[in-house]
Amino acid sequence: MDHIALDEQARAILRGNDRGGYTVPTAGLYPYQWNWDSAFAAWGFSTFDVDRAWTEIETLLSGQWEDGMVPHILFHQDDPGYFPGPGVWGTGRTPATSGISQPPVAATLARRIYEADPETGRDRLRAVFPKLLAWHRWWRAHRCPTGVAAITHPWESGRDNCPDWDPGMKNVDGSNVGDYTRRDTGHVDPSMRPGKEDYDRYLAILQFGRECGWDQEVIVRDGPFLMADPAMTFILLRAHRDLAALARELGESDAELMGWAADLEAALPTIWNEDLSCYDARDLRTGEFAGVLGSGAFLAWYARVENPEMERRLIAVWNRVRFGIPSSDPAAPSFAPRRYWRGPTWPVVNSLIAMGFSGMGREAEAERLRRETVALIEAGGFYEYFDPMDGTACGGRDFSWTAAIWLAWASPSAGRD
Ligand code: GLC
Repeated sequence: MDHIALDEQARAILRGNDRGGYTVPTAGLYPYQWNWDSAFAAWGFSTFDVDRAWTEIETLLSGQWEDGMVPHILFHQDDPGYFPGPGVWGTGRTPATSGISQPPVAATLARRIYEADPETGRDRLRAVFPKLLAWHRWWRAHRCPTGVAAITHPWESGRDNCPDWDPGMKNVDGSNVGDYTRRDTGHVDPSMRPGKEDYDRYLAILQFGRECGWDQEVIVRDGPFLMADPAMTFILLRAHRDLAALARELGESDAELMGWAADLEAALPTIWNEDLSCYDARDLRTGEFAGVLGSGAFLAWYARVENPEMERRLIAVWNRVRFGIPSSDPAAPSFAPRRYWRGPTWPVVNSLIAMGFSGMGREAEAERLRRETVALIEAGGFYEYFDPMDGTACGGRDFSWTAAIWLAWASPSAGRD
């Protein structure tokens, strides 16, 4: 299929997944509004409907809690096809939401959307800016206990079952979560999804949050899981800077945001794993590093962080696959090329990593990554993720964020910088 036809198909996917003001990631498997998926959907919409792009961000922020958190799922309408739904999370909010957050890419993508069309965006930006700022303040207050960004649940990372979380997950007791029925494995091949033991532990962490009334202080202090996340740290670092740029654009002070960015950067040495020569996930309860390279470490460039040693290690990981950046190193024993975040390549993450490469003037790498991502989508369609070895399309089909990054970045007709 030529790229003009693929552009058309990508727009049709975004329109088809539009539930009126918000976009579902894919029909069936993910029937609600997900946080970072929505930010990408907005970026995709902005290539053909800027008004709809801003609406997506506004709807996402309509789920914001008083403390500033923007939850990882907004359950606008109950759907029995998804587990764990609003009743399981029990946050008691309207709209119903989950009780954790997700990677804050919204400010970075809002900046792109705004800069492509400042005239249409100015008033919309002015209205969402204080909410984005409050969310960034929440990250600082509730998710940076040691300086870098941490997650309280693997789902908060957006990279649900990647080996990064193995050290923290092994200490979570999942034996008392009671009976439940998963829904995800009814939508897609179970061998591509997290296993049952993982799911028990995900629920145990969720139940701890619900039982303490989603008290963030208690969760960070006593919860069953707390890990420093390099990807989240890089994403937040860049997001602070991008929101600071938007603050300047609006004539607001950028001092607070630039201060948070500087503090994050100063804390980076605490997640430097000497054995890997890379930034690595680290269990904040035990100090243990994950010891596996993957797409999280590749986001360093996205935050303008680089050094030659790290670069050599990462490019070697990339060279072990044929398509895209693997979510985890093929040389590691945990590598599983089709099991969700334990190996597959994700077009959406590739788009962020490429943004990092281009921002650092590394056009050759940015272009290589774009071409490899294009090859996957051309051959397999707008799937959730792909096997990085043979390119097999995996997970959910007609996926919003894959369509979105196609339009905004991968397609030959996309306006790149
Ligand atoms: C999975 C992914 C997460 C994504 C969600 C909806 O949970 O791991 O990153 O936001 O699906 O697409």
